[in-house]
Amino acid sequence: MPAIPFSKISALLNVLLAVTGLAAIAALTTPDIAAHVRFALEMLLAGIWTIYGLQLIGTLIAWQTARLREAMPAIAIDVLAVLLPLLALLFVGRRDQSLYCAIWLLKPLRQSTFFRLMGRVISNEARNLIGVTSVFVIVLFGASLAAYLIERDVQPDRFGSIPQAMWWAVATLSTTGYGDEIPQSFAGRVLGGLVMMCGIGIFALWAGILATGFYDEVRRQDFVRNWQLVAAVPLFQKLSPVALMEVVRSLRPRIIPAGAIICRKGDRGDQMYFIVEGSVIVATPNPVEIGSGSFFGEMALITGEPRSATVSAVTEVSLLSLYSADFQMLSSSSPEIAEIIRRTALERRNAAPGG
Ligand code: CMP
Repeated sequence: MPAIPFSKISALLNVLLAVTGLAAIAALTTPDIAAHVRFALEMLLAGIWTIYGLQLIGTLIAWQTARLREAMPAIAIDVLAVLLPLLALLFVGRRDQSLYCAIWLLKPLRQSTFFRLMGRVISNEARNLIGVTSVFVIVLFGASLAAYLIERDVQPDRFGSIPQAMWWAVATLSTTGYGDEIPQSFAGRVLGGLVMMCGIGIFALWAGILATGFYDEVRRQDFVRNWQLVAAVPLFQKLSPVALMEVVRSLRPRIIPAGAIICRKGDRGDQMYFIVEGSVIVATPNPVEIGSGSFFGEMALITGEPRSATVSAVTEVSLLSLYSADFQMLSSSSPEIAEIIRRTALERRNAAPGG
């Protein structure tokens, strides 16, 4: 059985401990909680705190030995997770002590790459986000000003100043509509409708910018990762830079665990595979093992016939798969590579009994 990497176990443990701790904090805020339940929950928090303390010691040792130099946010989270509850224990009244453990909310983020990704998206899209935010502020102030002018005499207690009208404008612009402040005049209601429509547009713009930003960033990361993987397949070194770019875009990385079947004899084949790392076994009458830098699954693509053999992973394999349509593209942009693949397919076919 393959070993689970320690980072995965500690990430899972962090999530489990944080969820348990936060549930205990929430339970401790319920009034009339029995004394023995309170004690048990506080002991639970103390236990989690101890584990986090040990984790902090581990983090600091790793940091000392310079293995964690780039992980400052993780170290900061580990320190805060231990320090803040400790300070609360020493200096805060019993009623609110446990609330400081809410800093554990940050623990699951410690190993998360999502926030780094989000930071990059926000920095890449900063100009557009600032643009839409400026529109939001302009519309917000304009709507508050207009609502104040229209409604101030009708409802002086609710629209008697621009800051007061701003609460209505925010609730309306975000289309939340609490309903605690409602324009009474006809002009005020027309204004309300316009503000709602502006709000929908502005939020759609924000969502659109962030969605395309995430999509672009994920594609960029995939491209860089594929580029590195493609470099490990000698066949692709023959490609021109333009063809290489196209191939990098069309290849999909896959990790197949040891023992898994990648393609089955007789199945329809719509993709071929390049082995970046690891090895596979082709279940021909004389089984053949093929390893890094080689490829398989090309015969079905070229002949259109079903898979000629079952192929399974001997070790964990890192593969790049290429779909039929992209294979056609590769064939036209790089006839040399297509020829090598065709020749190999022919040799393999001839190697088969009766081939
Ligand atoms: P395909 O027929 O699409 O699916 C099974 C794959 O196993 C086949 O393509 C080849 O890539 C590979 N294969 C079949 N026969 C041999 C062989 N004799 N040596 C190496 N690989 C083979």
